Amino acid sequence: MKLLQEKIQAEGIVLSDQVLKVDSFLNHQIDPQLMLAIGKEFVSRFAQDQITKVLTIESSGIAPAIMTAMLLNVPLLFARKQKSLTLQNNVYVEQVHSFTKQVTNEITVSKKFLEEGDKVLIIDDFLAHGEAAFGLAKIVRQAGAEVAGIGIVIEKSFQNGRAKLDDAGFRVESLARIKSLTDGQVRFVEDSAVLTAEGNGSHA
Ligand code: G4P
Repeated sequence: MKLLQEKIQAEGIVLSDQVLKVDSFLNHQIDPQLMLAIGKEFVSRFAQDQITKVLTIESSGIAPAIMTAMLLNVPLLFARKQKSLTLQNNVYVEQVHSFTKQVTNEITVSKKFLEEGDKVLIIDDFLAHGEAAFGLAKIVRQAGAEVAGIGIVIEKSFQNGRAKLDDAGFRVESLARIKSLTDGQVRFVEDSAVLTAEGNGSHA
């Protein structure tokens, strides 16, 4: 998605060869117009799939997911990482380990909101090792529902999450696919566009 790649080029900060900071539009401050465009793009890719629910994980998945759900006219459901005071029993639970943050979260979704027959579109902001996506997919399957596909805003293609999801047979649609973050530069899979650490985009 060209608009997203341009935003990453303009505002993304390469923190290391593993981590890209995008807190000006996705992970802290949020750009609503960009989120709407992202929602439209996901809808165009999954329009034929009779989605009944969008599922994400708090917190940064919620912004792109709500736009997608709104345009599909279906509910958005988000998995919680913190135990809710009011949500204690009757929940689906999965362990999600974050390699990036070196923590394991127990994610929960109320059984009330996912049911057999649901066709679920999973949305997340980043795909790194695939742990969050797999955890969400397992919850969908616990409910006897179907994963129609997985929509990712930024995929770090040099990490193993995409390959693992492909191998498991999931349909994955990523709007920006990053080939590498070496030398302070973002290189995309499709077009080898390059971003310098200072953010003044150039092309390789
Ligand atoms: P995985 O789910 O694909 O295995 O990813 P991983 O465990 O490595 O990542 C865990 C958290 O770190 C996720 O956020 C993910 O979005 C974020 N993350 C991974 N790589 C990057 C990166 O290069 N840049 C940024 N900005 N974030 C990255 P989270 O813990 O769920 O946080 P949040 O959704 O509450 O913001």
